[in-house]
Amino acid sequence: MTDQADRQKQAVAVAAAALVENGMVVGLGTGSTAAYMIEVLGQRWAEGLRFVGIPTSERSAEQARALGIELVTFATHPVIDLAIDGADEVERGTLDLIKGLGGALFREKIVAAAAKRFVVVADASKLVDHLGTRTAVPVEVTPFGWERTAYQIEALGATTVPRRDRTGSFFVTDGGNYILDSNFGVMDDPPRVARELREVVGVVESGFFIGRTSEVLIAGADGVTRMVR
Ligand code: A5P
Repeated sequence: MTDQADRQKQAVAVAAAALVENGMVVGLGTGSTAAYMIEVLGQRWAEGLRFVGIPTSERSAEQARALGIELVTFATHPVIDLAIDGADEVERGTLDLIKGLGGALFREKIVAAAAKRFVVVADASKLVDHLGTRTAVPVEVTPFGWERTAYQIEALGATTVPRRDRTGSFFVTDGGNYILDSNFGVMDDPPRVARELREVVGVVESGFFIGRTSEVLIAGADGVTRMVR
């Protein structure tokens, strides 16, 4: 990652962390931008801010715990006031997203769906005119029958690549599933593709976040810009 992209992620993380107020239930995203945001929240916690967090991954849970942030679950807190998370692509016109390059898309979507306000933090490189421009769509699938699920996704027009970890084994999500990175190319109707994927047996969730974003904080060379849906 370039120093500039890194600085942009830090700037947007500070802006997003400033949205957290005392007493809030906060969804804690996953990825490098979200990690910066959690770090800033850790500093604010040390300065006396008090809120509770619901993490979107074991990784983010571990980081938040290490910073002393109090974590809770949906058992006691079924509604989230504010969820803050990163994205891999943000579509300019709609603020629809592709997420999941970090592998946490299923928990991320549950947290986003439970949030009254879902704020996305990203550097300017993530902004696209049409989803599918920079990245494939991560699709979480059950290990049983994954080859058949891949066949079905390919029948929808994608090429699929099973995600691997550093050792070459299947990448396994926090939920014990696999990810098929499904390349549909540049899409003119992502909501339709998202609906079609939902119909495929074996698909747990896709990395499409359609109609869920409340606002996006984008960091560019000129500072942080707020985009509202
Ligand atoms: C995690 O599963 C993803 O959805 C991340 O939110 C996304 O990959 C953004 O990550 P970065 O902030 O590291 O680019």
